[in-house]
Amino acid sequence: MTLGLLVRDVVEDDHDSLHGLLASAFAREDEAALMRKLWSEHAVTIELAAETGGVIVGYCAFTPVSCKPDLDGLLLGLGPLAVAPEHQRQGVGAALVKKGLELCRKHNARLIAVLGDPDYYARFGFEPAAKRKMTWAGFDAGDAFRIIARADDDFGGVAPDDVRTIHYHPAFDMVS
Ligand SMILES: CC(C)(COP(=O)(O)OP(=O)(O)OC[C@H]1O[C@@H](n2cnc3c(N)ncnc32)[C@H](O)[C@@H]1OP(=O)(O)O)[C@@H](O)C(=O)NCCC(=O)NCCS
Repeated sequence: MTLGLLVRDVVEDDHDSLHGLLASAFAREDEAALMRKLWSEHAVTIELAAETGGVIVGYCAFTPVSCKPDLDGLLLGLGPLAVAPEHQRQGVGAALVKKGLELCRKHNARLIAVLGDPDYYARFGFEPAAKRKMTWAGFDAGDAFRIIARADDDFGGVAPDDVRTIHYHPAFDMVS
């Protein structure tokens, strides 16, 4: 665990540091450009920075998603999640996800989706979306597209042969 880790809300003054962090964690500019776009549109519901010694070393965002057929309530997607390379594997990512999920509960979020390493996200309770008859509107991500709900009946029901499709903000198309 990184000593003296503070997980806090993001303020506008953090954006330049976060741009650098995202570019360095992902080793490309796509996610930083995505966040610039989402910040400019105020299209982020929850975002957190992890800081140690006054330096931001981690970041996570939860943005609104929609689904078809529609479901009422607040539906969110987790991502991007990024930790500075030299601070990885020290629990920073886990601290961000746990605190983020806590805030999602406070916001009474109905569903939270994530696309990423299945083993990493399973530990926080994300289960395969396919198991709940949900799929990502992008490509078939299999087990990597996962979902967590406020309660079991929040997954909603669909006809036996149907699935619900989750759509992220169109800016996510910038990320390949
Ligand atoms: C993925 C990421 C956010 C994890 O953050 P972290 O602070 O390093 O992770 P934690 O310390 O909370 O958890 C560490 C555990 O997660 C797992 N883990 C870490 N990075 C992983 C990765 N890229 N893929 C799969 N598992 C990973 C390992 O099991 C590790 O445990 P170990 O050290 O005992 O092997 C971080 O590695 C990162 O920023 N990667 C680059 C950007 C990225 O891929 N983001 C995720 C997009 S979905």
